Amino acid sequence: MSSRKAVSTKKSADGLSLYLKRQRSLVEAALKRAVPAASVRPSTIHQAMRYSLLAGGKRLRPILVLAAAESCGGEVTQALTAACSVELIHTYSLIHDDLPCMDDDDLRRGRPTSHKAFGEGVAVLAGDALLTQAFGLLSKINPTKRYPLSVYLEETALAAGSLQLIAGQVADLEAEGNSLTISDVRFIHERKTAAMIVLPLRLGAMSANATPSQLKSLTEFGSALGLAFQIIDDILDVTQSSEQLGKSAGKDLTAAKATYPAVIGIEASNKEAARLTRKAHAALKPLGNKGVRLIEIAEYLLGRTC
Ligand code: IPE
Ligand code: IPE
Ligand code: MG
Ligand code: MG
Ligand code: MG
Repeated sequence: MSSRKAVSTKKSADGLSLYLKRQRSLVEAALKRAVPAASVRPSTIHQAMRYSLLAGGKRLRPILVLAAAESCGGEVTQALTAACSVELIHTYSLIHDDLPCMDDDDLRRGRPTSHKAFGEGVAVLAGDALLTQAFGLLSKINPTKRYPLSVYLEETALAAGSLQLIAGQVADLEAEGNSLTISDVRFIHERKTAAMIVLPLRLGAMSANATPSQLKSLTEFGSALGLAFQIIDDILDVTQSSEQLGKSAGKDLTAAKATYPAVIGIEASNKEAARLTRKAHAALKPLGNKGVRLIEIAEYLLGRTC
């Protein structure tokens, strides 16, 4: 694991963990308000939406929205609605990813998956409803001068649609059991995961009325970070327990999934994740001190164990 070891000092790690805790609690409170109460009829669908959405999770994507906004001199309050929107899309993608017709998983965020708890029909619909509500939320944002509402909607539709997130998920399914090159796997990972890491960074920057050059830096940061994030997810599937991850470990190998460890091995995957994290850091250079928090987040993700 040494090649993937985080290098942050104890002091900055303490500062980061306090920061993450604070941002997470802002996000949790906003997410509770972002979907109808569980008692609203038909209560099954609202219970199912809340069951998956409010089950914890790292809240990485909404935190990236907030941190990107701050890195461009913006306010977290101005970014919170977009932050909730990306977490709703992410949660929908997890519910559908776990379905028997996709990865067929029983455990997610430390609980039985949505279809195990509510049945397949309601799980599909809970995903649909979260995705739809994400756009409902976005429609409420107060856009800044450079970026009209249509840009938020267009970019979100693109990242979540059949050219990016869905493209990656389709390619992931079609790749099962095939022998692939690393560039095939990279194609999948850039779409199924990195697109939904780039999006929050861009939305956060836009909420802060970022300059084109700030937006470019954050986009480059997100592409490298997003690919590293999925490589680490692939590594953790092999090296950690289901208990540690809160989701079924060891499934990628049995399902013959397209992963970095399957194609280049664990050690080379660790090195690639570290290389991409350095690349992500370099992309933020133009932001100077304002980019420090995002650099710390990238470093923390490189060293994560769940
Ligand atoms: C899991 O994402 C799906 C991937 C893209 C690897 P996360 O690891 O961010 O899951 P949560 O949100 O913390 O549950
Ligand atoms: C899924 O990748 C990425 C999504 C778009 C949800 P994985 O299938 O590896 O994610 P996990 O390991 O089930 O969280
Ligand atoms: Mg999958
Ligand atoms: Mg999966
Ligand atoms: Mg995985």
